[in-house]
Amino acid sequence: MRQLVTRRDGVYLDLTCGGGGHLKQISEALSAGAVLVGVDRDPDAVAATREYLKSVPQTLTVVQDNFGRLDEVMETLGLNRVDGVFLDLGISSFQIDTAARGFSFMQDGPLDMRMDKSGPLMAEQVINEYPVEELVSLFRKYGEEKRSYQAARAIGRAREESRIETTGQLRQTLEPVLSPRNLNASLARIFQALRIVVNAELQQLEEVLPKAVDYLEVGGHLVVISYHSLEDRIVKHFIADRVKGCICPPEFPVCVCGIKPSLKALTRHPVKPSEEEIMSNSRAKSARLRAAEKIA
Ligand SMILES: C[S@@+](CC[C@H](N)C(=O)[O-])C[C@H]1O[C@@H](n2cnc3c(N)ncnc32)[C@H](O)[C@@H]1O
Repeated sequence: MRQLVTRRDGVYLDLTCGGGGHLKQISEALSAGAVLVGVDRDPDAVAATREYLKSVPQTLTVVQDNFGRLDEVMETLGLNRVDGVFLDLGISSFQIDTAARGFSFMQDGPLDMRMDKSGPLMAEQVINEYPVEELVSLFRKYGEEKRSYQAARAIGRAREESRIETTGQLRQTLEPVLSPRNLNASLARIFQALRIVVNAELQQLEEVLPKAVDYLEVGGHLVVISYHSLEDRIVKHFIADRVKGCICPPEFPVCVCGIKPSLKALTRHPVKPSEEEIMSNSRAKSARLRAAEKIA
């Protein structure tokens, strides 16, 4: 939590608190007078964090909400300034390992994939009700899968017979049309695409970043860990735009927009996990951390 903590008695937000692991590390870097807020859209994660961190010395509030709704969360908590914002994107090990949540192609479960189980859209609806052409484009855009067309066509054919309701049925439908050499990687990409659509993950990320910077104190840090290139690209461009400030076309001789830089990048390149971290948690392999400091 080196990159996040600038004041030991400050106010810190962990907007993806999951099981509370990172929040615990943040707590350990702070004095007892600090204020901690954990947010997660998954009620099970909120319950797990509350239980795991019930004895931290700081004032801790754990809220079930979507980080895209940061304004509402801040208003409810009566906060308007924070010293650090942390995001550890994507899904947790707990979510992947719980077959009933439907995130994993390694276990059979309902095609759900909602992080917040009260959400309006399930993967089952996307798979059975979206036009095949839309599935092709979603698998390409959010999964970057080469065999998107074949995968979507196979789904289209299978669902004419009967609805595809489980992760196992989806896997069986896809296996014959994906490259056997890269089967798991392709399945992972298609499941990733579905998860991103069901939870509107990239939209939420686009929404939260500017809000997080608005609430940061000057000198406060934003730290984001991403797990795939689509997320990392959004974070990278956001930080680069805020470091640059001015949005005037390059041919303008002088700036007319008046937008000043608001961030300083603290990581020139994304920070990758050490061998040791990967050994102790293989899912950390694809993690990329970027950090920035608010300067105005
Ligand atoms: C990689 S896990 C975080 C794990 C956590 N850092 C820990 O130490 O246990 C990502 C978490 O972010 C949550 N999440 C993803 N998108 C969210 C969103 N838009 N709003 C709130 N929580 C979100 C997921 O429910 C999941 O629990």
